[in-house]
Amino acid sequence: MTASRGAISPDSLRAEFTARFGSRPLLYRAPARVNLIGEHTDYNDGFVLPTATALYTWVAAAPRSDRLLKVFARRFDELECIDLDRLEARGGGRWSDYARGIAAILQGEGHALRGADVVVDGEIPLGGGLSSSASLSCALAFALLDRSGIAIDRARLALLCQRVETDFVGVRCGIMDQYVIARAERGCAMMLDCRSLEFESVPIGSEVGFVIVDSGVHHQLPAGEYNSRREECEQAVSILGGRLSPLDSLRDLAPERLEEHRGLLDDRLYRRCRHVLTENRRVRDAVAALRAGDARRLGQLIAASHESLRSDFEVSCGELDALVKIASGCPGVYGARMMGAGFGGCTINLVEPARVDQVVREISAEYGKILGREPWLHVVRSSDPVQTIA
Ligand code: GLA
Repeated sequence: MTASRGAISPDSLRAEFTARFGSRPLLYRAPARVNLIGEHTDYNDGFVLPTATALYTWVAAAPRSDRLLKVFARRFDELECIDLDRLEARGGGRWSDYARGIAAILQGEGHALRGADVVVDGEIPLGGGLSSSASLSCALAFALLDRSGIAIDRARLALLCQRVETDFVGVRCGIMDQYVIARAERGCAMMLDCRSLEFESVPIGSEVGFVIVDSGVHHQLPAGEYNSRREECEQAVSILGGRLSPLDSLRDLAPERLEEHRGLLDDRLYRRCRHVLTENRRVRDAVAALRAGDARRLGQLIAASHESLRSDFEVSCGELDALVKIASGCPGVYGARMMGAGFGGCTINLVEPARVDQVVREISAEYGKILGREPWLHVVRSSDPVQTIA
């Protein structure tokens, strides 16, 4: 699995493009997604509180006169040639699925793409829970549409990129990652209602800092476990819906109703529901804490989220739990939890800004003993959404 890399130089990307394809490209970049709180709630029509951080997927693109998409992935040193008139309907488990998927979905929706030469590179660890794949989809879709002269609404861009995962790649993900990558506001977290897609921008004040730590356990596309969690939630809705009609999603289930009808569910389904319901509550409470600059309260909510993901939703793993334990013992850490789909990937740590460097050193040293090398860490720096650079 490819780890994270240093910052990409736009000049070297341009130079590589021109050396390879002979023309001058425009550059686009899409950030990574960091989620402060609200995990496995998006596909239950619930609430999430993500933000975008300054780690990027870069795309250099120039139009071609034929119907080919030639995409060179620097990270894999591989060139893919895609015929826009002969697109497959499903992915085959390769990085290029995202390019094929974007082309298939956009064209299927009637957006007539032009052929293009493309170079892609990325700074985001792959499979690390920072949504490198949604960042790639958004960057590619944004670039291909722009180079075809097609303007698109950012909310629609996010929905189409989500379909690359659900329809093409086969991960039945929610809308959180694509939405925040397409619409993030610098300096803010996005409290997103995943049913209505209405959102509120919540400023991230100077009282809080966030540090991401990579556990070193990287999932392949976690389709199996991830989709099975989603199916369990759907199963619970269908069982409870027999009694509590209408019930379209766990979003509509009040905690008291869940307790009243607990007997209808087996213990596992009950715990899955309890996670989603309590996590939705925690997101709203986190918004209030962030607005009030109450780092201590926010930290408690983050810690409670981890516990719920670990014991009720069962998507953590030993390494993530170890990282959370180490962080929780560091002075200056208000709360830590696993982030993203789980089964590996990163933790997010809410840290007193003045102690960020010290916390980074301590976690590195302690977790380094378990990992056998220094872990990759990233201090969150707020970013703009997907955009054209030049
Ligand atoms: C992945 C998915 C998201 C979301 C998270 C878990 O990142 O892509 O839609 O479900 O997992 O919160």
